[in-house]
Amino acid sequence: MVHKRIGIMTTGGDCSGLNTVIQRIVDAGLQRKWDVIGIKNGTDGLYANPAKTIELDDNGFNFASSHMAGSILSNGATGTTGFEIAAKDGKLAAFNKRLQKSLKELNLDAIVLIGGNGSLSLAHTYREIYSGVQLVCIPKTVDMDVPLTDKTIGFDTAVQQLASYCEQLLLVARSHRRWFVVQTMGRKCGNLALNAGVAIAADAILIPEIKFDVDNLVKHIKQTKRDYGIIMVAEGISIRGHSGKPADMISRILNNAKIPNRVAFPEYVQRAGDTVATDRILAAGFANTAIKAIENNETNVMTVLQNGEYKTVSLNEFFNAGRQEKDPNIVGVMTSNRYVEPDDVLLQITTDMGIYIGEKRK
Ligand code: F6P
Repeated sequence: MVHKRIGIMTTGGDCSGLNTVIQRIVDAGLQRKWDVIGIKNGTDGLYANPAKTIELDDNGFNFASSHMAGSILSNGATGTTGFEIAAKDGKLAAFNKRLQKSLKELNLDAIVLIGGNGSLSLAHTYREIYSGVQLVCIPKTVDMDVPLTDKTIGFDTAVQQLASYCEQLLLVARSHRRWFVVQTMGRKCGNLALNAGVAIAADAILIPEIKFDVDNLVKHIKQTKRDYGIIMVAEGISIRGHSGKPADMISRILNNAKIPNRVAFPEYVQRAGDTVATDRILAAGFANTAIKAIENNETNVMTVLQNGEYKTVSLNEFFNAGRQEKDPNIVGVMTSNRYVEPDDVLLQITTDMGIYIGEKRK
C-alpha cells in the first residue's frame, strides 16, 4: 500500500455532518497508516504562514463526538475570509500563490476539500492553487444547490431540524389560533423549503423556482377552514412591489387579509443539530469514495451520489452542469448553481397533498 500524507479542509457555511465526514476520512487514512492533518479555519488557515494545522489522530480528534454539528477544523469567518477580501481588493493572484506555497510546505500528496458550490467553483476556477496535490472535493450544504449529486452532506439534518422546529411551532400556533410564516435558508434554491415543507405537510410552500400569486395564497389559506398552520417560505423568494425579508412580506399580506400570523426564523439552527443517520451514511459513502479516489491518483474531482451509486465526477463537469452565476461573496467569480427542477417528484406530491406551491414553474 502506497503511503500518503493527506490534508482535510472545510470551507464555506457549515452544516451538520462535517465532523462525521472528517472522522470517516481520518479513520480510513489511519487504517492505511497514512498521515492525516487538518487545516484550520478553511483557506484562511492555509494562507497563514506557517499554515494552521492539527494532526488528526486519536488525540487530535474526539471520535465519539463526530455526530455533533459544526466543524472541528472551523470553516473560517464567512463574509470576511481572506479570499473575499483579496477578491475585493484585486489581490487574488498573490493570495492564491500563498495558498499554493502552503500546500507545498505541508508536503501533502492530497487534499480533501469539503465545501459547497461556492468553494467547489472557486477550487475549479483557481485550480492552479492545487497543482502540486491531488484535489478531491466532497459536497456539503443545507441548500442542496450543488449540481450532479442527489444529496449533499448536511441537507437531511437541516430538513430534520426544520421539521422538528415547525412541529414545535404548530403546538403554539394551535393554542393561539394563528399561522406561522417560517423562513428557511437555501439562498436562491428552494430545495430545503420544499423538502421540509413536505415533511411537515405545510399548508403552503413558496420557493424561488415557482411563480406564486399572493391572492391565490390567501384564498388557499382561507379555504383550509383552519385558523392555524405553517407557511414555509424560502429565503430566496421575491414579490414584485414588496421589500424586506420574505417572511415579513408574506406576513404583511396575510395581515391585510385579516389572517392572524407571526413570523419565525429558524436561522442557523438549520445548520446545527445532531447529524441524522442518512447524513452519516452519506458521509461514510463520500469519505470512502474520496479515499479510493486518492488511492487511484485522481485529482480535480468531486464525490457524488447518483441514483444510489457513489462515484467521482470531474470538477469541470460539476462546473459546467449548473447554472453559472456571479458568486454572492467573491467578486469576479462565477459559481455553478443547481435549482429545484420542474420535474422534481416532490412538486407533484406537494400538489397532490393539497399544499399551495404556486402557479407556474419559472
Ligand atoms: O449557503 C449556506 C447558507 O446557510 C445559506 O442557506 C444562507 O443564506 C447563508 O449560508 C448564510 O450565510 P452566513 O453564514 O454568511 O450568514
